[in-house]
Amino acid sequence: MRSNENRDALSEASETDPDFSQEPSLRPQTLDSYIGQRRICENLDIAIRAASRRNEPLDHLLLIGPPGLGKTSLAHIVAREMGGRVHQSSGPVIEKAGDLAAILTSLERGDVLFIDEIHRLGKAIEEILYPAMEDFRIDLVIGEGPSARSVSLNLARFTLAGATTRSGLLSAPLRSRFGNTFRLDFYDEKELAAIITRSAALMEVEIEQDAAREVASRSRGTPRIANRLLRRLRDFAEVRAAGRIDLEVARQALETLGVDEAGFDTMDRRLLSVIAENFEGGPVGLDTLAAAVGEDASTIEEVYEPYLIRCGYLQKTPRGRVATARAYDHLKLNSPVPQESLFE
Ligand SMILES: Nc1ncnc2c1ncn2[C@@H]1O[C@H](COP(=O)(O)OP(=O)(O)OP(=O)(O)O)[C@@H](O)[C@H]1O
Ligand SMILES: [Mg+2]
Repeated sequence: MRSNENRDALSEASETDPDFSQEPSLRPQTLDSYIGQRRICENLDIAIRAASRRNEPLDHLLLIGPPGLGKTSLAHIVAREMGGRVHQSSGPVIEKAGDLAAILTSLERGDVLFIDEIHRLGKAIEEILYPAMEDFRIDLVIGEGPSARSVSLNLARFTLAGATTRSGLLSAPLRSRFGNTFRLDFYDEKELAAIITRSAALMEVEIEQDAAREVASRSRGTPRIANRLLRRLRDFAEVRAAGRIDLEVARQALETLGVDEAGFDTMDRRLLSVIAENFEGGPVGLDTLAAAVGEDASTIEEVYEPYLIRCGYLQKTPRGRVATARAYDHLKLNSPVPQESLFE
């Protein structure tokens, strides 16, 4: 099914990232090879240099942004540039206080603990992190009943790098303990074309400039999607065009894949057309919408919606989601209501 396929491409965990399982890694290894997000890279570069000069670990780092924009890649780059080791874990995996204590006590000075999906850490686990982040110390209760006693352990000075697609779900105390907080934005066409060209070179695929631009314009502002489309185009070109991707090959392949000019796939179009046709343009509540399109509400919110909102196809109003005039144009439908009236 197309929608699931797309969801995998957008939100897959790094263990199942094709970058890890196939051919040379497409992940950039240094800040210099990390394309786009210039402001973040500049700030990180300064922070890394300053910390290195003082011979101190980097302040804790929080990376926020929709799936596939390069949070994991950036966290690994930071660890590498600081010369520390990376310990990777994720919110849902750390279930018990003991799990986190074991990880924290194994860290050495300058190591980076990367916690993906940090918004999914349990409350009790989060509380262990507060003193660990602030004072490099954890308080543990050992034993049970009357013989239980509390011990305080010192930790090596480490850097916590957290990544989240949902910063709104992060508790205020946790959020305030990060010294560096960066919000990744969708990439523009030029940056995506550069990412595609770089990936093609690593994959040893020939792609023409205008073809790279075409793929870039249909990648929903997301490097992971750009790389995924490039892999599909490579298959297409190998079978149909002697391996070389030119504009014509790119267009044909994208059409075959069901990716339209805006980069929308079946689920994006379905979301917009359901709002436009079944709910007269909205507003429609998220749960109702999820039931109508047969997709999980949180997937709509985390994976599909951000780009549609960012590009002005969808609006979030206090009463629900609304399809904009731009969405009607894209679907080639007549726009019914003047949108402004909904915000009064
Ligand atoms: N700035 C960039 N320059 C070049 N390639 C990039 C960049 N950002 C991401 N990529 C490519 O996109 C892929 C996805 O990036 P990454 O896994 O870091 O995203 P993520 O934000 O951690 O996603 P998720 O939220 O799903 O975990 C990477 O494997 C990498 O090949
Ligand atoms: Mg990731």
